[in-house]
Amino acid sequence: MSVVEKYILGSAHLERCPFPIPYGWFFVDFGENLEKGEHKMVNMLDQEWIVFRTESGDVGVTDPFCPHLGAHIGHGGKVVGESIRCPFHHWEYNSEGWCTKIPYANKMPPVCEREPVLRALPAVEKYGLIMCWYHPRNLEPMWELPDMPEFEPGNDTHVTPRRYHSEINTAIQELAENGVDNAHLRFLHGAPEIPELDVDVDGHELKIGMDGGDMRVHQYGPGLATFVMFKEGITAKMLSFSVPITKEQSHMNMMFTHEKYPEGTKEAMVASAIVDHMIGESEGEESAGFDAVDMPIWNNKKYRQKPILCDGDGPILRFRKYFKQFYDGAEN
Ligand code: FES
Ligand SMILES: [Fe+2]
Repeated sequence: MSVVEKYILGSAHLERCPFPIPYGWFFVDFGENLEKGEHKMVNMLDQEWIVFRTESGDVGVTDPFCPHLGAHIGHGGKVVGESIRCPFHHWEYNSEGWCTKIPYANKMPPVCEREPVLRALPAVEKYGLIMCWYHPRNLEPMWELPDMPEFEPGNDTHVTPRRYHSEINTAIQELAENGVDNAHLRFLHGAPEIPELDVDVDGHELKIGMDGGDMRVHQYGPGLATFVMFKEGITAKMLSFSVPITKEQSHMNMMFTHEKYPEGTKEAMVASAIVDHMIGESEGEESAGFDAVDMPIWNNKKYRQKPILCDGDGPILRFRKYFKQFYDGAEN
């Protein structure tokens, strides 16, 4: 064996998260956490952002540093009408990043008439979440978020979603790869058998079905996925909305809902048992939960670009090819 080959067998050359920040729609915050006229700072997508809600209720997600002389708008800025005002010289910017007012200019700088001057991410509110579109080169959204009325606040056929969050020291690609890693379901999560998966890729969407049919996953780009679980004729749904904090750190966010069943019925018990199991709150289940048992793996693993796989492994490489499309400039 050559010296080079031996080196490859080791792990010193491996990185934990050798990925850029992907493009797509990402969770910013829950809509209810941002009142009209309020602004806050959010760390995500490898930088800090200002998130604000205008007086009419629109949400803006912008870069924090003022295009004038570089003040940090989050420290002392204020929402004024439909804009956020920089504390330093009171220039104002709207949710699309246009400079809307300079209180002491006789004439606006030409660039301010022409184009947005503060980087702003397109933002929408859906499922009770503020979601933003991020692309490293600022390209416009390439797809729309799907409608999922069952997760909308106040939906009258489904229960109010239960939420789950944890912070994980790895990239969101690694979290999502779990969905196609069927073998770990047996050995890490204690599934009785290794389920067969069938995977279907269609542009930014990826669908995973499991044999026996007790779960279906539908990924809508890197930052949103639904999991539909079936058990004893009952269906429960999970919405997963992970977002990178940095290249090596992610928020893993989930919410769960199911149809409203009369209290005390078997249906209501099965439905809430499915959710307990997914959240990892079932009593006496050591190997439950989406992340409790995955977490020590994710927090400590390295990424193998060229893993050695066996015939029983899931479609890991197909998943990686799917995910790679969200890395701007990566060849697929
Ligand atoms: S630095 Fe923001 S208004 Fe001057
Ligand atoms: Fe897992």
